[in-house]
Amino acid sequence: MSEIRIDSIAKSFDRTPILKDISLQIEEGEFVAVLGPSGCGKTTLLRCLAGFETLDAGQIEIGGQTVSGPSRHVPPEKHNIGVVFQNYALWPHMNVAQNVAYGLKIAGLAKKDRAARVAHVLDLVELGGFADRRPADLSGGQRQCVALARGLAMESRVVLLDEPLANLDVHLRGALEEEFAAFHARSGATMFYITHDQAEALALADRVAVMNHGRILQFDRPEALFRQPTCETVAGFIGEGRVLEA
Ligand SMILES: Nc1ncnc2c1ncn2[C@@H]1O[C@H](COP(=O)(O)OP(=O)(O)OP(=O)(O)O)[C@@H](O)[C@H]1O
Ligand SMILES: [Mg+2]
Repeated sequence: MSEIRIDSIAKSFDRTPILKDISLQIEEGEFVAVLGPSGCGKTTLLRCLAGFETLDAGQIEIGGQTVSGPSRHVPPEKHNIGVVFQNYALWPHMNVAQNVAYGLKIAGLAKKDRAARVAHVLDLVELGGFADRRPADLSGGQRQCVALARGLAMESRVVLLDEPLANLDVHLRGALEEEFAAFHARSGATMFYITHDQAEALALADRVAVMNHGRILQFDRPEALFRQPTCETVAGFIGEGRVLEA
């Protein structure tokens, strides 16, 4: 059970409202992209889903369980959710393989299975030869790939990804986009995928949530966003189209 229900949530920082009355219902196994400009609240929304932030109002249910709400907050380590952070959040004192294996170890996977799983995901992101390196000795793109490998290694029923391809070159982006699609098809995981990149969102997602200033403007299938944008902002944001008076 991995459907996600976000019900009228609100979140402020220092009395500045960042998320304003956000509701989304995501089906089990759905691939949802969240698309919106910088600062609109995408990472904050992901952090609320993962349990890193408490809510000011509303509630979040994952797989039928309330994970965050007025009287309940499940901390991140109690969720079985894979997260790929925008800032990578790698352990500096651990090498690449240890970083990827850490969550598997906490989850109680046997050592032999851990090693096989780590080797597999590092190959996926083309870092098979970097298992012994420390994060400090990697490029930004390589660090991003380690964060990605770590998120996928958990094989969770729900995977949250915060701009996982933003710092990669075109070659690796294309390859990993395909890998996400394959991972999704294979695992049936519910995917919540934040991006700035419209093409990426439209290519990968079953539905796209277009976000601006802490609100969801429209949550719909890619073709519906093109054909029936519900407001001018969405129309302007998708397809860089031109709005004509009619
Ligand atoms: N812990 C915090 N304390 C205070 N303000 C915060 C905090 N976290 C985020 N904010 C503010 O909330 C707003 C939304 O930030 P958020 O990181 O969610 O944006 P975003 O949509 O992910 O942007 P980007 O695309 O640049 O990553 C920003 O104005 C940011 O400064
Ligand atoms: Mg962000």
